[in-house]
Amino acid sequence: MERNWQPFWNSLDRLLEEGEVIIDRPQGSPHACFPQVRYPFDCGYLALPLCESGEEMDVWKGNQAPPQVAAILLAVDEHNLALNRSLVLGLNEHALEAITDFYAQIGLTAVAIHRTPAELRLLTERRSVRRFLDRPVERSLIERVVELACWAPSAHNQQPWRFVVVSNAESKEKLAQALSEIFRRDLLAQGVPLEEIQARLERSRKRILTAPLAVLLCLCEEDIQPGSTERQRKGEHEMAIQSVALAGGQFLLAAHALGLATVWLCAPLFAPEAAQRALDLPSSWQAQALILVGYASQRPTPPPRKSLSEVMLYR
Ligand SMILES: Cc1cc2nc3c(=O)[nH]c(=O)nc-3n(C[C@H](O)[C@H](O)[C@H](O)COP(=O)(O)O)c2cc1C
Repeated sequence: MERNWQPFWNSLDRLLEEGEVIIDRPQGSPHACFPQVRYPFDCGYLALPLCESGEEMDVWKGNQAPPQVAAILLAVDEHNLALNRSLVLGLNEHALEAITDFYAQIGLTAVAIHRTPAELRLLTERRSVRRFLDRPVERSLIERVVELACWAPSAHNQQPWRFVVVSNAESKEKLAQALSEIFRRDLLAQGVPLEEIQARLERSRKRILTAPLAVLLCLCEEDIQPGSTERQRKGEHEMAIQSVALAGGQFLLAAHALGLATVWLCAPLFAPEAAQRALDLPSSWQAQALILVGYASQRPTPPPRKSLSEVMLYR
């Protein structure tokens, strides 16, 4: 059985409450021995009442909620035969990487002991990635991702999702072209200047063509439960869309868990017939989204999330 580490982290939080965090190496300041290396975040130490000076624990501090201990970093200093321990407060996973890089630049090897277990970190570490390496995605891997996505819940267990994996250049070109035409028409109707239209079309085309895989996520209309009233039919249709979206979300997470990067593009939602024609799909397959899949060539900074107080109510 998985050991419960919560008491450990809770007592670490209490220890923190007993002490005072003193920041003596602010963000951006140079390292004392390696002045070309700058502190990526505020750094200091935790002064505890009964602790002798010099025995304090280092602290990396950010201003993100919650200000609890998010991780412990252990950095081995082979040169000085020392083990550097630090607490990480109010910083996310992305920041942890920057700190580990900082240690690497001053010749230390660091590992992080995370408070949040890896299974849950998947939820916060997944990012929309818009640049991919020029490296193909193995067929067995994408099949595994689709298999895992298909374990999503669905209304009446109808599993109304379909996945069209577009990998060959010719099909990608046809799809990109078809989506472009509708996009151009929409932008013209919105009165966007021609030059800007050209640039936006080129960008969206290039994104599809340079992604190793483009997966068209569809809703199979035949799998929608019929309803006897208009209200019921609408509800059933919406439940089918919700089910497909859940499979899409699960697809993104499964891909991330297996080391792949993805981004969800909404373009086909505005041109379902064009996508259907371009890929010669059954007429009941209605495109909902295009998910680009590949190996990441960038690690985007996490876009901020709304606070709990904005998105949550108790009644
Ligand atoms: C329904 C939906 C439509 C989206 N459409 C697009 C899109 O057309 N182009 C794009 O670059 N990203 C698109 N995204 C990705 C979002 O921009 C992204 O999820 C959001 O900025 C949060 O970033 P994160 O996924 O890295 O957490 C879409 C996401 C969803 C769920």
